[in-house]
Amino acid sequence: MPRTHLVLDAAFTVGPVRRRLFGGFVEHLGRHVYDGIHEPTHETADEHGFRKDVVELVKELGVSAIRYPGGNFVSGYKWEDGVGPVEQRPRRLDLAWHSTETNEVGLHEFQHWLDQVGSELMLAVNLGTRGTQEAIELLEYANIDAGTALSEYRRSNGRQEPFAIKMWCLGNEMDGPWQLGHKNADDYGKLAAMTAKAMRQIQPDLELVACGSSGASMPTFGEWERTVLEHTYDDVDYISAHAYYEEDDDLPSFLASGANMDHFIKTVTTAADHVQAQKKSDKRIDISFDEWNVWSIKKWEAKAKTFTLDEWPVAPRLLEDVYTVADAVVVGGLLISLLRHADRVASASLAQLVNVIGPIMTEPGGPAWRQTTFFPFSVTSRLAQGTSLQVKASGDTVDGGKHGEVPVVDSAATVTEDGKAAVFLVNRHPSEPTTVTIDLAGIGATGDVHAEGVWDDDLHAVNDL
Ligand code: AHR
Repeated sequence: MPRTHLVLDAAFTVGPVRRRLFGGFVEHLGRHVYDGIHEPTHETADEHGFRKDVVELVKELGVSAIRYPGGNFVSGYKWEDGVGPVEQRPRRLDLAWHSTETNEVGLHEFQHWLDQVGSELMLAVNLGTRGTQEAIELLEYANIDAGTALSEYRRSNGRQEPFAIKMWCLGNEMDGPWQLGHKNADDYGKLAAMTAKAMRQIQPDLELVACGSSGASMPTFGEWERTVLEHTYDDVDYISAHAYYEEDDDLPSFLASGANMDHFIKTVTTAADHVQAQKKSDKRIDISFDEWNVWSIKKWEAKAKTFTLDEWPVAPRLLEDVYTVADAVVVGGLLISLLRHADRVASASLAQLVNVIGPIMTEPGGPAWRQTTFFPFSVTSRLAQGTSLQVKASGDTVDGGKHGEVPVVDSAATVTEDGKAAVFLVNRHPSEPTTVTIDLAGIGATGDVHAEGVWDDDLHAVNDL
C-alpha cells in the first residue's frame, strides 16, 4: 500500500486564509437563476420567488463572495434591464448562451438572495459590448448614497441604502474569441485601465479585478497577463484566472489536476511580479481565481453544435454536469492547491453553484440535492481557518498522466491562533487505498483528533435525482 508522511510546523506558514477563497459564481445561464435559485411557484419560495431549500444548501456549502451576473453573459448585458418594476423589464436575446433573458432577476433581487445566504456580492461589468461610461453609471447607481440621478433612481426602485459593493470584475474572459467584444491584450488593457481610473474617481477604495487568461491552454497565456498588467498595474488589485478540468478518458491526469493549477498560479504570479519589477512598484498584484471547477467541456461543445439557431429558450438545461466521486476528488485537490497558494490567491470562485456545473441541483417543483462535489467544498470551507501552513510531505508517488509523477497524496493544512489544526488530503491513486502518518509536534497539537472522509468504491458513483 502506498505511504505518505507529513510534517506540520506552525513556524512555516504560507499566509492567512482569506474567506473569499471559498467564493462562488452565479451566472444568468441555463437553469442557474431561473428554475434554480429562483422559482416563484416552488413550495419553498420566499416573497421574492427564491427557493428557501436552495438557500439552505448554499449556506451549508459555505460560500463567501459570489461573482455575478457572468461569465460570458455579462459581455452582452445591460444592467439597466434588470432594475425598475419587474413587469416593465425587457426580454432580451442572450447571445452568449443562445437563450432569452427575461430580466425578472436583476441587481436588487440578487442582493436580496445574497442577504439570505449571507454572502458578499462581487459584481462584473460589461466591457464586451459596453465600456467605461456604463461601468461608472452602474457604480453610481449601486454605491452612491443619494442626490444624483442614478442614486435617486435606485432609491425610487426601493433601495434606500447603497449596495456598497467592494469587489468589481472589469469584464470577463476578454482573451477568448468566443467572448462578445473579444479584444487583444493591448486594447483590453487600455480599456480596463481607463475604466478602473474612472471608477476610482467615484470610489478610491474599490477592489478591482482585471481579466487574466480564460485558461492555461490559451495561446496568449502568460503574455496576456504581462501586457494587460503593463497597462493596468497601478489601477487594479487583482488579475483573474480561470481553469476547468475534465476526465476525458484520462483518469491519471484528471486526478492530478491540482498539479496543473499549481503551475497556473505560479505562471500568473511570475507574470505579475515581472511587471512589478519592471515598474519598480511596491504594490503586489494577487490572483482572483474567479472561475474554477470540473466541467465536461467536450460533451458540452458537442451538444452545442446540435442547437437550432432559431430557438431562444428561457432557462434551458445547459451545462448540467452530473458529478462523480472522481470529480469530487479533483475538486478536493483543487481546493488544496488554492490553500497552498493562499499568499497569492486572494479570492476564488467555484464556478458555478446551482444546476449549471454546480454542486447543487434542483428540479422544478421538486427537490434540491447535493452533488458529490458539494462535500469537499463544504468541509474545506468549514475547516480551513486561520493560517495556511506549508506541509512537508515525503512518500510514494503515482502516475499523474500528462502531469508526470505526482505525490500519491496531495495535502494542505491550516491552523488557528488557538491551535485548532486541519489537514486536507486527497488520495490520487485510481485504485489503491493509502496510509498517511502526520507529525503534529511542530504545531503543539494535543487533544481530540476528528476525521471526515468522502469516498466510494465506485469512482464514477453519482448523486442524482
Ligand atoms: O462558467 C461557464 C463559462 O465558462 C463562463 O460563462 C465563462 O466565463 C467561462 O468560459
